[in-house]
Amino acid sequence: MTKIGLFYGSTSGVTEELAEKIQQQIGEDVCDLYSMEEDFDDVDDLLQYDYLILGCSTWGAGEVQNDWREPLFDMEVDKPDFSGKTIAIFGPGDCEGHSKHFVGALGTLYDQFKALGANVVGTVSADDYSFEKSTSIRDGKFVGLPLDEVNESEKTDQRIADWLELLKADFPAIAA
Ligand SMILES: Cc1cc2nc3c(=O)[nH]c(=O)nc-3n(C[C@H](O)[C@H](O)[C@H](O)COP(=O)(O)O)c2cc1C
Repeated sequence: MTKIGLFYGSTSGVTEELAEKIQQQIGEDVCDLYSMEEDFDDVDDLLQYDYLILGCSTWGAGEVQNDWREPLFDMEVDKPDFSGKTIAIFGPGDCEGHSKHFVGALGTLYDQFKALGANVVGTVSADDYSFEKSTSIRDGKFVGLPLDEVNESEKTDQRIADWLELLKADFPAIAA
C-alpha cells in the first residue's frame, strides 16, 4: 500500500497545524492523519502503512512530545519489525528559546525507528538554521525536517515544499 500514514503528537496545536498542512499538500486521499492523543491505539496503527510521516514537537529539554512517550516506550520493549517501512520525520521547535536542545525529538524518533529496521529518509541540511546544539544531527544533517513557528514561521511553507519535493524520491504517493 503506497498510502501514507501521518501520525503526529502536539501539545499546543502547532504540530497539528503543520501536519494538516502537510496532509493537504500531499492529498487527503493518499495521506491519512492520526493524532497520537486521539486516534492512536497501538503499534498496529503504524504497521498497517509501508509509508509513514511522523510529526513530533520537542518539550522539556530536547524530549519528545508527551503523546509519543508511551508508544515509544512500548516499542522499545516489544521491538516491532519496521523493516521495509519508509519513514520521514518532522517537528517544530524553538531555535532561540531552546537553542541548546533544538528539535531533539527528531533524533529520538530517528534512533528508535532505525533500530526497529525502518528506512528513515528526508534528512535536511542544517545550514538554514541557527541554534547552539541539537541531538538530531547525524553526519552533519538533521534527521528530519525542523520547523520553527516561534521564530521563523515565514520560512515554514518553503521548508515544507522543499521537503516534500525531496520525499518524492521515496514516497510514491507524493511523486504521483
Ligand atoms: C516548556 C517548553 C519546553 C520546550 N522545549 C523545547 C526544546 O527542548 N527544544 C525545542 O526545540 N523546542 C522546545 N520548545 C518549543 C516547542 O517545541 C514549540 O513551541 C512547538 O511549536 C510546540 O509544538 P506543539 O504545540 O505541537 O507541541 C519548548 C516549549 C516549551 C513551552
